[in-house]
Parts: sequence; C-alpha cells; structure tokens
Amino acid sequence: MQRAKISVIGAGNVGATCAHWAAIKELGDIVLLDIPDKEGVAKGKALDLFCCAPIERFDANVIGTSDYRDTADSDVVIVTAGLPRKPGMSRDDLIATNVKIVKSVSEEVAKHSPNAVMIVVSNPLDAMVYTAWKSSGFPTNRIIGQAGNLDVARFRAFLAMELGVSVEDIQALLLGGHGDDMVPLPRYTSVHGIPINQLLSEEKINACVERAKVGGGEIVKLMGTSAYYAPASGSVMMAEAIIRDKKRILPCAAYCESEYGVGGKGDGYFVGVPCVLGVSGMERVIEIDLQGEEKTLMDESIQHVKELVQIVRETFPELADAPAKV
Ligand code: NAI
Ligand code: 2OP
Repeated sequence: MQRAKISVIGAGNVGATCAHWAAIKELGDIVLLDIPDKEGVAKGKALDLFCCAPIERFDANVIGTSDYRDTADSDVVIVTAGLPRKPGMSRDDLIATNVKIVKSVSEEVAKHSPNAVMIVVSNPLDAMVYTAWKSSGFPTNRIIGQAGNLDVARFRAFLAMELGVSVEDIQALLLGGHGDDMVPLPRYTSVHGIPINQLLSEEKINACVERAKVGGGEIVKLMGTSAYYAPASGSVMMAEAIIRDKKRILPCAAYCESEYGVGGKGDGYFVGVPCVLGVSGMERVIEIDLQGEEKTLMDESIQHVKELVQIVRETFPELADAPAKV
C-alpha cells in the first residue's frame, strides 16, 4: 500500500508539532513547508524530526522545503501558516494579516494538491476556513477547520483534573466557534457513561467550561505565544481519521447550510459541529437537539462567524466574489 502524504504549511510551533505527531503515528510521508526566508528552519526541523525515526521506530520520510512542488499530490494538507496571538491580542486581531497568508497558501495547495483535504488551523479560525474555501475552489467536504478538538480536549482535561479520574473516561461535546464562542453542552458530557452532573456541581462544571473557553489565553499569558502541543494533536487526530478512513465523529468547523439553522441553500458557513471524518474529508454533519440556553449560545456563535466572514468579505472583495463549490 502506498504511504499517504501529509503536507504541513507553516513550520512554526503548531506546524512542526503537527509534523511530530503525524510522524509518531506513522501517518505517512511528511512535508514541512515555510516561506523562503524560513526554508532553513523548515529543513532543519524536518531533518531533526527524521533523526528520531530510528529511536521512535517510524517509517516516514520527513522533508522541509519552501517549494510547493515538494508538496505535490498530498492527501492531507494542514495549514498552520500565519501569525499567532501575542499577549493582549484576540484571535480576531489577526484577521487582516492571516487572510492574505491563508489565501496565498490555499491557492498554492489547490494548484499542487488538487485532491487534498485541507485542515485549516490558522486563526481567527472561522474566518480562515472561509478564506481557504474561497481561495482553493475546493468543495466543502475537503475544507475543515480545527478548533473543536482542542476545545473539547481542554474541557476534558480540566474535568479530569477536577474529578481526579482518567481523561480517557471523559466524553464531552462542544459546539460553535473557537474558545470564547464555544457552546458548552454539559447535558452531553459524561464520565464512563455517568452524566457529569451526578459527579460534579453545576458551579464546578461551569468553572471547567469557563477555563476551557479561555484556555488558549491562559497559555498565551504564561508563555507569551499561543499553545501548540494540543492544537497540533487535535489537528493530527483529524488527519488520522481522514487518512485511515476511520469515520470518527469529531467536532470540527464544517460547512453547514440548513443544519443548526445556519443559513439556507447556497448561504452556508463553517461552524463548529460534530461531523464524521473519513477518506472523503468531512463526510456528514451530525445534528443534535439543542435546548433553551444551548440554542441561544449556538445562534450567538453562528452570528459571530457571520460577522467575521463579513469583515473578510468587505476587506477582500475578491474573495467574496470568488465562485465556491459546495
Ligand atoms: P508560529 O509563528 O510559530 O508559526 C507560524 C509559521 O507560519 C511561521 O514559521 C511563519 O514563517 C509561517 N508562515 C507565515 N506566512 C507563511 C506563508 N505564506 N507560507 C508558509 N508559511 C508561512 O505560529 P504558531 O504558534 O505555529 O501558530 C500558527 C497559527 O495557528 C496562528 O495563526 C495561531 O493563531 C493558530 N493557532 C490555531 C489554533 C487552533 O486551534 N485553531 C491553536 C493554536 C494556534
Ligand atoms: C488556542 O486556543 C490560540 O487558538 C489558539 O490556543
């Protein structure tokens, strides 16, 4: 069987860590690409990672480059190119710079890997997924944003810390946008099948929700730049589900039209929902029943996505006018 090919665009903290997790999981051959000025960084990190192969025992080539021809015919492309947040910045502050970067990256990806599934990580995530979709011309099943996996992982980690139990036994579901915009669903959260509200007070559950919401900011404050181990781990979990056709249900920024009341036919947006990931990329959105406050928060989150996309459309009218495949 031919090995899969995974390209990671942006050889910074998140990108290099994606390459690391993908190599350890032996997902396929890996190409780490950065801008020409940082070609040495991409090549150096790739070489360093490849030298782990004899120790960690993975069979995967890892190369660094600034030439998109090396990424040709990738099965999955993870886009991490762009500026990260600095202390005091919100994800939305990154919009103008990162749209330009993600637009140029997506055009190159479409040219060299026309059949790839793109996993977008760059922030502000909800706007960057739209940018990648419009700039690549890819159908919506092959454009997916990573946010939910990270937010859910943080929520599960904080619940496990609070309960003193294994993170493995915590199942949780969150919807909506990344971080502050997430829609917590304690009703769908359980510990080895036991509803979370039987084990923790409402106050403690809410404290874990709030900590997960600002989990990214907590790390930015501590170390002066944004997180990368868990973001990369969440991104590679998506790549694995696609490459191994696992049909995993993962929370991702996926294209919705009528689902969750997002819009109408031809008027869809990428929002955080549970979906099935397999060899075709985002294969199916799973719609669940929302009640009262959950529905209100989801509507607010969708509204924020629409506002972000509107800023992108106004700032970059060529993107708004670009034809897009559903
Ligand atoms: P970083 O600064 O360590 O790395 C970014 C890399 O992108 C740099 O090496 C830079 O040279 C490269 N780059 C810039 N323009 C490029 C281009 N046109 N083509 C190729 N590479 C280019 O930043 P870090 O920490 O890796 O974060 C990357 C992005 O991911 C940021 O936008 C950050 O906000 C976002 N992020 C998203 C998360 C999520 O869950 N969605 C979580 C963590 C970070
Ligand atoms: C995070 O949540 C900044 O999106 C990044 O860590």
